[in-house]
Amino acid sequence: MESQYSPFFPSSYKKKALQSGLWLIWVCGFFLIGVSFYFTQMLPNFLKEEIQKPEIFTTGFDDLNCPKITIFTAPRPFIGKIGERQTLALRSWLGLSDNINVVLFSQDPSVFSLAVSFGSRVSVEPNVDFSFVGTPFFHSMVARSMTSSSDVTALIDPDTILLSNFVSSLKHAHKLDEDWLLIALPQNLSHFPFHLDSKGKNWQSENGKHVGIQKMQEFLSHKFSWCGERMIIAWNNGDLPLHKGVLPPFLYGKGIHNRWIITEALTSDYRLVIDSTLTISSFYFDQEILNSDIENRSWEITGNSLLGKLYGSFSFREANFSNLFRFFECRKEYLLVNSDQNIAYPLWYKRQLSLSIFSLLMEKKIVDCVHVIKSLEGVKECFLKKQMRLSNSISLPLSLESLLSILADQNKTIVLSIAGYSYKDMLMSWVCRLRHLQVSNFLVCALDDEIYNFAILQGLPVIKCLYSPTNISFDNCHFGTECFQRVTKVKSRMVLQILKLGFNVLLSDVDVYWFKNPLPYLSSFGPAVLVVQSDEYNTTGPINFPRRLNSGFYYAHSDNITITALEKVVKHAASSNLSEQPSFYDTLCGEGGTNRLGDYQCLEPETKLLINFLNRDLFPNGAYRDLWEDKDTKKSCLDKGCLILHNNWISGRKKKLERQVLSRLWDYDINTRMCLQSWHTTNSMSYF
Ligand SMILES: *[C@@H]1O[C@H](CO)[C@@H](O)[C@H](O)[C@H]1NC(C)=O
Ligand SMILES: *[C@@H]1O[C@H](CO)[C@@H](O)[C@H](O)[C@H]1NC(C)=O
Ligand SMILES: *[C@@H]1O[C@H](CO)[C@@H](O)[C@H](O)[C@H]1NC(C)=O
Ligand SMILES: *[C@@H]1O[C@H](CO)[C@@H](O)[C@H](O)[C@H]1NC(C)=O
Ligand SMILES: *[C@@H]1O[C@H](CO)[C@@H](O)[C@H](O)[C@H]1NC(C)=O
Ligand SMILES: *[C@@H]1O[C@H](CO)[C@@H](O)[C@H](O)[C@H]1NC(C)=O
Ligand SMILES: *[C@@H]1O[C@H](CO)[C@@H](O)[C@H](O)[C@H]1NC(C)=O
Ligand SMILES: *[C@@H]1O[C@H](CO)[C@@H](O)[C@H](O)[C@H]1NC(C)=O
Repeated sequence: MESQYSPFFPSSYKKKALQSGLWLIWVCGFFLIGVSFYFTQMLPNFLKEEIQKPEIFTTGFDDLNCPKITIFTAPRPFIGKIGERQTLALRSWLGLSDNINVVLFSQDPSVFSLAVSFGSRVSVEPNVDFSFVGTPFFHSMVARSMTSSSDVTALIDPDTILLSNFVSSLKHAHKLDEDWLLIALPQNLSHFPFHLDSKGKNWQSENGKHVGIQKMQEFLSHKFSWCGERMIIAWNNGDLPLHKGVLPPFLYGKGIHNRWIITEALTSDYRLVIDSTLTISSFYFDQEILNSDIENRSWEITGNSLLGKLYGSFSFREANFSNLFRFFECRKEYLLVNSDQNIAYPLWYKRQLSLSIFSLLMEKKIVDCVHVIKSLEGVKECFLKKQMRLSNSISLPLSLESLLSILADQNKTIVLSIAGYSYKDMLMSWVCRLRHLQVSNFLVCALDDEIYNFAILQGLPVIKCLYSPTNISFDNCHFGTECFQRVTKVKSRMVLQILKLGFNVLLSDVDVYWFKNPLPYLSSFGPAVLVVQSDEYNTTGPINFPRRLNSGFYYAHSDNITITALEKVVKHAASSNLSEQPSFYDTLCGEGGTNRLGDYQCLEPETKLLINFLNRDLFPNGAYRDLWEDKDTKKSCLDKGCLILHNNWISGRKKKLERQVLSRLWDYDINTRMCLQSWHTTNSMSYF
């Protein structure tokens, strides 16, 4: 990146040193001011260097090239009025410069077809994390945007319309020698009297006349209502991160995330944070008609307000506005002002001016502009005016029945998983894998409040398990423990409940790695067949031997026979002092295997339910052929035709986790709380 001058001192310690230097001068009084700009002897050495640079900046802004800009946005489906507004916004962006490209975060078909109609400058990125109602996660969007190689990256709401000074502001910011983060608030309008011409380049009045930026700015300046949730965020492709720490998993679209980023950027003080609201004219139309889908967003509102509670006041601390600079156009030239630090930087000069010292000597032009900018509201005033309010309600409106009907696939099938907090990372890896396979009909049943809250924050469809045992041990709830026995009994009860509501269930433990979606295969068995994984480790011989039924992966069809048989299993388990797994076998295949049918089936005599043990080459358990011991577990499994691989036959949570991560059958980054995507360059996985 080219850089023409270096107005600011790169780190905050230098800024502080500057301030004390200036204070010294101030104390020395007006006598020094008389000596005017040439008193550099008095300043500490490092300052001298800065100030001895050529004083008047004459060239550089004559040849402002438009930097390469990529705008990222997360549109809603391009349908109806919302679609029209988004299309207009998109056209307004593309018309600004050929150097602007747009990336749309979405998995919706209407977005893909719209992108095609715009040609190569608009593309769709479906590989970020989405909640189960299709809203992308802001942290995943930002991480993806950060991988852009453009000179400037911007994140903009999909219906924010930009005018031409967006590009001029970025052109000027692009010349700064520091890394920067620029923000601007769009205005909320009910109507705009001009319209974009068919080429998307110029705005016209009613009678078809071209309207210049000044006229539009005049119109906008009368409508100073920009303290909404929307924000334009842009940054240069530099070396410094935007802020310290890890961005929480915010759902996009509730405004909280914008505020969090700005607050953290100001506090971290890595980058120059510039409020460009006065130099970027942008607006969006009133929200009203968008309220129709508020209902569907209640989940997300809950998620973000819960997040507010969990992260507490630390994450939502007050911004340190003394680090905020403001961009201002001063008679066609750009000026940066920080009134807290009393610094002004006219970009046509090659240095910064201290407002307190130089005001007498400064050009009247600058003095006037600084007065104007101080009187105008910006991001700081908006933030102070609108304190963040997070709703207290954390009870979700979605019942089991409504979740099932939203989630189920066309065969009325649900993939059910059950997890406690100790398995949260495994759960997420499992979910990321399913998302990757585009399996979206899964439901998580939460064994404890911690995992329930966690799942909501991660945008997962979750319900609290019925009949949850209390007191689930974090590390010691594995096979064979009493905790394990209690937990497993919840599973069959949940499955039964869902079957009774008319949905088929594929129960999959979170330690089952999915290579491919097994549902098309499993659903082919039809009604009155329970399809189960075999836990037999002997590679030869029958796979339906006593107690070789694994109740961590099975497919149950919703029909009377299956329901009746499963009721027997649940009843048996309730009075057993073992886990539910033996109850499955003993009830269905008979104690000692009396109901076995051939080498891979059983027939329950009362209900006539057929139990079908799955081929282990397709559905291997953790002991079969020592697949987990293999150097390349993934390859050898796929060579055999695996659809899934169970990470069982190992004791202890940590060992299980380790085995799966080391085999690279792992799809979640616990540090950034995101699914691993193709665009992740590094995955820093420090799990152990
Ligand atoms: C937008 O403006 C309308 C009235 O013009 C107002 O009712 C609404 O609250 C405003 N929205 C925001 C986010 O400021
Ligand atoms: C969510 O929106 C879809 C259509 O956009 C609608 O069919 C569905 O009923 C809504 N769901 C809820 C829970 O409001
Ligand atoms: C805000 O930032 C300024 C300048 O970096 C610093 O001097 C001040 O201590 C900070 N204030 C707080 C409350 O962090
Ligand atoms: C939880 O488990 C511990 C030991 O496993 C036991 O002492 C305690 O009473 C249990 N608490 C409840 C509420 O069951
Ligand atoms: C739904 O069931 C049909 C018939 O068994 C099957 O062909 C199809 O693959 C199933 N779809 C899914 C998504 O499982
Ligand atoms: C495996 O099965 C074969 C044939 O059924 C039997 O001969 C052999 O002893 C079994 N091996 C083990 C370790 O159980
Ligand atoms: C299943 O059982 C319900 C009630 O138990 C009954 O109404 C229904 O007719 C049965 N369906 C079949 C196919 O047997
Ligand atoms: C489990 O219960 C059976 C009787 O139902 C009893 O014989 C056995 O000792 C019990 N096992 C344990 C570990 O409590």
